[in-house]
Amino acid sequence: MSQPKPRNGTKPVNLLLTVIISGALVLSAVAAPSMAADATPSPTATPSVSPTPSVSPTPSVTDVPVTPPGEPMPPVLCGVCFNPGAYSLTKANSLWVVANKQRPLNPITYKPTIGYFKGVQVAKVTATALSQMAAGMLKAKAGTLLLNSGFRSFDTQTVVHDRQVARLGLKAGEALAARPGYSEHQTGLAADVSAAGQGCTIQVCFANTKAGKWLAANAWQYGFILRYPKDQTATTGYQFEPWHFRYVGVDLATEMKSKNITVLEKFWKLPAAPAYSY
Ligand code: DAL
Ligand code: ZN
Repeated sequence: MSQPKPRNGTKPVNLLLTVIISGALVLSAVAAPSMAADATPSPTATPSVSPTPSVSPTPSVTDVPVTPPGEPMPPVLCGVCFNPGAYSLTKANSLWVVANKQRPLNPITYKPTIGYFKGVQVAKVTATALSQMAAGMLKAKAGTLLLNSGFRSFDTQTVVHDRQVARLGLKAGEALAARPGYSEHQTGLAADVSAAGQGCTIQVCFANTKAGKWLAANAWQYGFILRYPKDQTATTGYQFEPWHFRYVGVDLATEMKSKNITVLEKFWKLPAAPAYSY
């Protein structure tokens, strides 16, 4: 008897192979989800954009992070980038105003909107930021932040300047106190700080106190910079003042920190200001 021929002309041996291969495919499909979840994903894997939700409780390969565990994540694209043109560097009422021995305030008798930190006058924005920094300092057990001097009017700065010059002479006095109309204190953005019970108030040794160290390392997170760092007198015109912090806002303070540039003149590529022009 002759065998009936398969309709599509497939030989019996091929039919058997088809059955075996199909069975293997079914088995591998059942095993696939757990294997996919355990497998190290390829860094080149393209995430699925299929909107169809999977009914499988086992995560599919597309649920596994593309970056293998232990490897650095790719750089996060800039969400809100630093904008160097956000504020004026010349107007006295600007958050980023740069005042130094070559850059008097404009207008020279400027007075900011006043706020208070522990009863001491500063610009309103500075008061808010000081409160936040004081809370951070307390939480870090670095001490209780005090404000020794904040906003100083043109007239008050005249008194401060003249007193230091009378005490130390013109050169040393003017390395500590600005002439009226040239001081950051007149903007309300400067804060001469200390810490309760740690001594070295408005002295260079404040840099060695717990508070002084914490502030030098962490003030940027609250938008402050240590305005007159050590060994920068040729640029800033002032001696090391570890107590004098200048509020510039978190964006600029963070940008300066990330670029490892400590002084405003260098960051903005402005001329050094070691002395007055007259
Ligand atoms: N102590 C700083 C320089 C000022 O008088 O503004
Ligand atoms: Zn100061």
